[in-house]
Amino acid sequence: MGRAFVYVILGGGVAAGYAALEFVKKGVSYGELCIISDEPVAPYERPALSKGFLLPEAAARLPSFHTCVGANEERLTPKWYKEHGIELVLGTGVKSADVKRKTLLTTTGETISYKFLIVATGARALKLEEFGVSGSDAENVCYLRDIADANRLVNVIQSCPEGNAVVIGGGYIGMECAASLVINKINVTMVFPEEHCMARLFTTKIANYYEEYYKSRGVNFVKGTVMSSFDFDSNGKVTAVNLRDGSTLSVEMVVVGIGIRPNTGLFEGQLTLEKGGIKVNGMLQSSNSSVYAIGDVAAFPVKAFGETRRLEHVDSARKSAKHVVAAIMEPDKTGEFDYLPFFYSRIFTLSWQFYGDNVGEVIYYGDMSGSAFGAYWVSKGHLVGAFLEGGNREEYEAIAKVTRLRPAIEDLTELERQGLGYAVTV
Ligand code: FDA
Ligand code: NAD
Repeated sequence: MGRAFVYVILGGGVAAGYAALEFVKKGVSYGELCIISDEPVAPYERPALSKGFLLPEAAARLPSFHTCVGANEERLTPKWYKEHGIELVLGTGVKSADVKRKTLLTTTGETISYKFLIVATGARALKLEEFGVSGSDAENVCYLRDIADANRLVNVIQSCPEGNAVVIGGGYIGMECAASLVINKINVTMVFPEEHCMARLFTTKIANYYEEYYKSRGVNFVKGTVMSSFDFDSNGKVTAVNLRDGSTLSVEMVVVGIGIRPNTGLFEGQLTLEKGGIKVNGMLQSSNSSVYAIGDVAAFPVKAFGETRRLEHVDSARKSAKHVVAAIMEPDKTGEFDYLPFFYSRIFTLSWQFYGDNVGEVIYYGDMSGSAFGAYWVSKGHLVGAFLEGGNREEYEAIAKVTRLRPAIEDLTELERQGLGYAVTV
């Protein structure tokens, strides 16, 4: 049994949804495009899962957050795919790929062949077991990657009103889930190995601002240690989290966010990998010319940094998706992907954006005791990164623009004096 398509997108997440919209905008013909996803639903805006989806009231539910509402574009429901002749193969995993034969074998036993393959398999959440802790499959321990995880998390939250939660990990999932748990009136303790939260991006000073805010909302922090084991009751539910520093935290529930691994397994030994992802060129094309990769799974050249990076953020998924469709359908009119890294988060009433790279010297501006403040990163005499909490649209656009321009900075003191005004006037 088999079917053949001109274009196949493997994976049905954020990047797949945005690629589908772009294919239609560029005039893909009926029956040419197929999307295969092991999730049971059409592509949706994954960021909603740690924010609106977890709210105690007026929570976001599908179909409201199918792609591409996150970028103020059309909302692509299953009906939309049907109307445009796009084959949406849902609830179906791909278990093997043969890039020489240009075929994929699905878990239902079907062979799907392609002329062009776009790999958009994203990533999976790392498990505590990979760090030597066992028992994280207990009913009240939650990870958060997909809609099934999010539904489970909501059920667990509802099963322990005003209960105690431990959040393992101080990255994006940890911070956003901790905020959502507090909004659900759960008592939260965050545990992570670093000295401060969001260690991949924040400086100590920036992290301190958020930690103080979280503390004011009742969150406890246990930093510089990791968990060593769980205690269970007779039903197999976790009752306590034991830490390596010897302390124990009693819990009704646990949320784990300790990073991800890109889903590259199908292509190991077939495509060149780098930085944990599928290495692609500026046209998002892999070491096999019929195979492209986008989103979390792609390691692509970031022109501004002069090096290959793999980014794990929604903006990069959306924009790489748009670019790959142009690269495949209009190769002569399409240049290399020129992407400025952009990360953001919204937690409680706070909201920040970051553009560029967080290397070099950090120059702070604004009022950290107030609501709006930020920082610039200056490396080798150029402004290479910018962060802003509490900005308005024009201000965020200004820090994006200044970071893209990479202006030479001769006087750091002057940059500090001008603060946000520097970005706004450049
Ligand atoms: P994505 O993970 O979206 O999709 C991959 C798809 O491939 C999934 O449907 C998966 O099931 C499928 N798949 C994988 N292997 C398969 C196989 N073998 N067969 C079939 N299907 C397969 N970023 C940001 O910038 N701001 C934010 O606020 C957030 N918030 C956020 C919250 C939460 C809870 C998560 C988990 C993540 C975020 N992110 C984020 C990150 C952002 O969601 C992420 O970068 C994008 O979803 C990446 O899009 P992709 O399409 O690459 O992967
Ligand atoms: P992360 O990489 O942001 O953070 C992982 C955290 O895990 C680290 O900060 C560290 O504190 C912790 N950690 C690592 N090893 C540990 C261990 N053995 N024990 C305890 N803690 C440990 O990853 P995440 O928070 O799991 O997020 C998963 C993915 O989802 C990422 O790709 C992230 O970009 C994405 N995401 C992004 C956003 C956003 O951009 N606003 C929001 C949610 C999720």
